[in-house]
Formats: sequence, C-alpha cells, structure tokens
Amino acid sequence: MPRADLRLSVVILAAGRGTRMHSDLPKVLQPLAGRPLLRHVLDAALTLAPDAVYVVFGHGGEQVRETFAAETITWTLQAEQLGTGHAVMQAMPQIPDDHLALILYGDVPFVSPATLASLLAAAGPLAMSLLTAETDAPAGYGRILRSPSGAVIAIVEEKDATPAELAIREVNAGLMAIPARRLRRWLAELGSDNVQGEFYLTDVVAAAVRDRCSVAAVSAPAEEIVGINDKRELALAEAQHRRARARDLMLAGVTLADPARLDVRGTLSVGRDVTIDVNCVFEGTVRLGDGVKIGPNCVIRDSSVGAGTEIHAMSLLDRARVGERCVVGPFARLRPDSALGDEAHVGNFVELKNTRLGSGSKANHLSYLGDADLGAGVNVGAGSVTCNFDGANKWPTVIGDGAFIGSGSMLVAPLEIGAHATIGAGSTIAADAPAGKLTLARASQTTIETWARPAKLDADARAAKLAAAKRARAGKNPPR
Ligand code: UD1
Ligand code: CA
Repeated sequence: MPRADLRLSVVILAAGRGTRMHSDLPKVLQPLAGRPLLRHVLDAALTLAPDAVYVVFGHGGEQVRETFAAETITWTLQAEQLGTGHAVMQAMPQIPDDHLALILYGDVPFVSPATLASLLAAAGPLAMSLLTAETDAPAGYGRILRSPSGAVIAIVEEKDATPAELAIREVNAGLMAIPARRLRRWLAELGSDNVQGEFYLTDVVAAAVRDRCSVAAVSAPAEEIVGINDKRELALAEAQHRRARARDLMLAGVTLADPARLDVRGTLSVGRDVTIDVNCVFEGTVRLGDGVKIGPNCVIRDSSVGAGTEIHAMSLLDRARVGERCVVGPFARLRPDSALGDEAHVGNFVELKNTRLGSGSKANHLSYLGDADLGAGVNVGAGSVTCNFDGANKWPTVIGDGAFIGSGSMLVAPLEIGAHATIGAGSTIAADAPAGKLTLARASQTTIETWARPAKLDADARAAKLAAAKRARAGKNPPR
C-alpha cells in the first residue's frame, strides 16, 4: 500500500444516537442487505489489512459490541456524543504519531475497497485526503468549498451553509485519511461554535489548509458515498443494493423476470442459464447450479441447488442441499439440514426438517418428514407424517430404498422400514416394518346395515332434543 511508510489505524465512528431512525436498534446495527451497516464498513476496512481498528461506540454500545464480539476491534467509548470531531478524539490517545488515521463513518456503508485504497494512496506524512462526490442530491451532506484556483479550502455543514454554499454539488463523504501527528493537533484546536454546537471533524480541513498541509480531494462515484440517517435513506440504499446485485447477476448470464423484484441479502453464486422469476429473496450463501429455474415468491437461505433443478412458486429453502434435476414445490418447505438426492421430488405442502431424501425419491403432497433418512426411489404417499416428537424427545425414522409409504400413514418414530416394504394407506406404524412385505395397521372395515341418514328437524323437535340431552348430562353429573 503506497502510504509512505505510515502504518494504518482505522477509526470507525459508530457512536451517534441515530435519532432520525426512531428505533431502539442502534443505527449502525440497522440491517442493509441482510447485514448491519457497521459490518459493511468494517469488511471494507479489513481489506486494507490495517494495524488496528478502533470503533468509537456510545449509544447502544453493548449491543454493538456483542454483535461484533468475534472481531479484533479496539472499542473506544464516546460517553457523550459531542460530534464527529469529538468522536475521533476518543481514539487518538491510542494512535501513535507515525500512523495514518483512516476515518470511516459507520453509516456510510457502500464505500468500496478500491476507493479506500485511493484515499490512502493520496495521503502521507504531510498530506491529508478526503473523499468527495458530485451529486444531484447534495441535501444532508457537508459541501466542499474550493478556492477560485480549485483547491479545497474547507467543508461547510449543511446547517451552517449560506444559500450560495447550499447550491454546491460537491459533497463530503465523511471519510478522511490524515497523518495522526497532525490530526491530534487539529482536533485539539476544534471549537463547537456552529449551529449544532458540535465538534465537527470536517473543520480539520480548514486547519490543514491554514497549516499548508496538502489536502487531496479523492472523488468517488455518488453511489459509494451514500450516508444513511433515516429509514427512508435506508430503504433507498437497499434499493440501490438490489439494483446493483440484479445487474451483476444479469451480466453473469442470469435471466431475471424483473430486476426490480429480486432481493439478494448475502452471496448468490450462479451457474449458466439460471432463471429467476419475480419476488425471490436470497439470504446468506446460496449457490444455484447450471440451468436452475426458480419460480416466483421463493425464499432461499444458505442453500445449494443442483444443476437442472426446478424450484416452483412459493417455496422456502433454509440450509438445504438440493441435488440435480430435482423438482421442489410449489409451496414446499425445506428446513435446516435437509438434503435431496438427484431427481428427488418434494411437492406442495410438504415440509422436511433434518431429513435426507435419496435420489429419485418422492414426497409430492401434504407430508411432514422430520429427522428421517429415506433411501433411493422411495415413494411417500399424500398426507404421510413421521411422528418424530413424543412430547419430550425427537426420534429418527429410517426408510429403505424402494419403500412405498401409502397415503395417510403415521410413522411413529423411532422406526425403521425395510427396503421395498409397502405400508398400507392409513396405517399408524409404531414398530419396525420388514423389507419387501406389505405391513398395514387399520381397523377392519364395517358397514352398518340398520343406519339411516338423520332427517332435518323443525325448531320444536330440535329444542326438545337439546333439552333431553341436557337432562341426560345432569343425571350423569349430579350437582354436589
Ligand atoms: C457527516 C458530516 C458531513 C458529511 C456526512 C456524510 C460532520 C460534522 N459532518 O454529517 O459533512 O457530508 O457525514 O454522511 O462530520 N458519530 C459519533 N459520535 C458523534 C457524532 C456522530 O460517533 O458524536 C458518528 C455517527 O454514529 C455516524 C457518523 O459519526 O456514524 C456521522 O455522524 P452523523 O451525525 O450521521 O453526521 P452527518 O450529519 O450525517
Ligand atoms: Ca450520517
């Protein structure tokens, strides 16, 4: 990294109250694309291999720290939120003079690693850099003031700006790289004589200019510098992310029924000739093989789908592995730790939980299969259930290759059904069924010759019948 021998300390500001969110969840934990805002910023920062990462926290601090407990972060408390400059001051005692301080805002999530690298490259022992962008919607951002010769001279906050300054379209992203030795001095000089009564980090720019330190403005694409302060901006950012992911997928060869109606909240990797219908949501890590077709309104989380498989409308997959050339749905639900072998079929209103279906096996209608291992070529008839829970414990069901489970069977686990066994429809099977034989458990069928269908009663006859039933009940349960 060409930053003139300076080591790197990253400071992420995350202490703001996020008042404009009107939420109990701290702003930097608000989810964007399925991940907290701060996660986006942290991941971008980590690509720079910094020597240290400081996160300045305050509001909702415990929750923020717990969310990132697994990371190597130096947590720095800002007990009172007196402004972005004051926030950076809290980390300064720990940052050595010979470091470059890269300051990032926890609510500016889209900045790319490449942009951060150019920001660093423009800074050095005697030079600071700041990230700016030209935008048609500058409202809410600090404006960049330049001299007639074009040199940056200061940043003015929107609330402090004159009408002429408000018309400036070059805005401050909030991200800066500043040699720590200089930054320490400039921060110590900050005042809070402004409309918000805060210590603005942005005022270090004027201090740098005064001290004849070079100030490089690195320009970024407008979509990278988006800052998020309220739920409206959060939704706009989500839409921006959605458009970007849809574009990536289409350029990778995916056919999208409508790029505006697709949500990718995580990592979606795809083979060739994948087709995705409208309103599908992909969360976590999802892999779709060649030629996979996903019907409308499917939700797929942390799952893989093999080549040539078709997932029909309204299906939910959660931590499932689906083989090749399978057919799933419509209205199927694959819950965690379910796996389908190649050419398996899971049809409408079928739920699988922690269940393996061997290749070519089918459960096409209205079934629940939980904690079950089914071999290859098994047919599970409509309305069959593995009764895996006895009210206290979960038990497994094992079904051998080629077994045929008649419709409406209740399989009371723990239970083993042998290969090529047949279970008669409507059976409640509570003991192992042998391979290759027909097993059934049903009451024998009777026909009542003397029975007649009831006739419709008039109101008097109906009242008399109800009164008689009441007398009979009272006779059986005499009052004490
Ligand atoms: C800030 C910039 C503005 C810039 C915009 C970009 C200042 C004074 N203004 O304005 O020029 O265009 O970001 O998005 O810096 N924070 C703390 N402690 C505090 C105050 C804030 O940690 O005392 C954190 C917040 O959690 C947030 C970040 O700093 O992550 C920015 O604060 P915010 O209040 O959102 O600043 P803006 O008004 O957006
Ligand atoms: Ca902000």
